[in-house]
Amino acid sequence: MQTLLNVSNLCKNYKRSARFLSSGFRAPLGPISFTLGAGQTLSIIGESGSGKSTLVQIIAGLISPSSGDISIKGQPLCSLSQQERCRAIRMVFQDPSSSLNPKVTIGRILTAPLELNTDFNKQQIKEQIQETLALVGLLTDYLDFYPNMLSTVQQHQVALARAMILNPDIIIADEILATLDISLRFKIVNLLLNIQENKGTSYIFVGHNMNLVRHMSDQVIVMNNGLIVENNNTAEIFNTPQTDYTKHLLLSHQPDYRK
Ligand SMILES: Nc1ncnc2c1ncn2[C@@H]1O[C@H](COP(=O)(O)OP(=O)(O)OP(=O)(O)O)[C@@H](O)[C@H]1O
Ligand SMILES: [Mg+2]
Repeated sequence: MQTLLNVSNLCKNYKRSARFLSSGFRAPLGPISFTLGAGQTLSIIGESGSGKSTLVQIIAGLISPSSGDISIKGQPLCSLSQQERCRAIRMVFQDPSSSLNPKVTIGRILTAPLELNTDFNKQQIKEQIQETLALVGLLTDYLDFYPNMLSTVQQHQVALARAMILNPDIIIADEILATLDISLRFKIVNLLLNIQENKGTSYIFVGHNMNLVRHMSDQVIVMNNGLIVENNNTAEIFNTPQTDYTKHLLLSHQPDYRK
């Protein structure tokens, strides 16, 4: 299997200052090293505050690291232009009702990344939008709609379409399923798996629901206090967890089917 992403000795340190202390101490992260294979799904699990979101936000380019290297297909991320970076890694946010601008139509939401990051002409933009809508199971009828005219699942489909519109190598999804009830959650999970089968997209998935993590992932990273405590294939993590921390985590985050 070909290595797509290589994260090496990634660290993030926060300066302690009176101002930061008053707003809560942000724990340091790293050093973190791992690889992700092409077309694979990596899940990151760990207790609240263990650094999962910080790590994925650094990989997505939303936070800059203090040190360390990230490369994609052998190329350092820092050597890529903003456009190349956008085409390599896209992030899907937890709550589409707040991440999708309510004043912008679905058509504009999907056109903007293509105008900014490609030299597609109008016809190519139209075709790419049609193909991406079909990929996420949405009709082109919705292009003139505003996000709040859509159901929660449709909003998630639009958020996924926005992430997929540039055909990225990696999609990062930080707890995107947490606010959905169980049947809608599986709908989005199946959609993610279909996209992966169709496009070979790799996922970095942060989640607390261990059944979903087990169902979706090829590889699992367990984080505690800003460090990786285990990194293994999914079966090994679930069948033979190596640390008490992982055992506890797997037991304490069993999904509650009554919800
Ligand atoms: N905006 C912020 N300001 C100050 N500290 C923060 C901020 N965001 C996170 N932190 C702190 O940084 C550390 C790592 O947080 P992070 O959000 O990466 O954890 P997480 O594993 O994603 O947790 P969760 O499961 O709750 O989402 C924690 O100590 C947290 O309290
Ligand atoms: Mg988080």
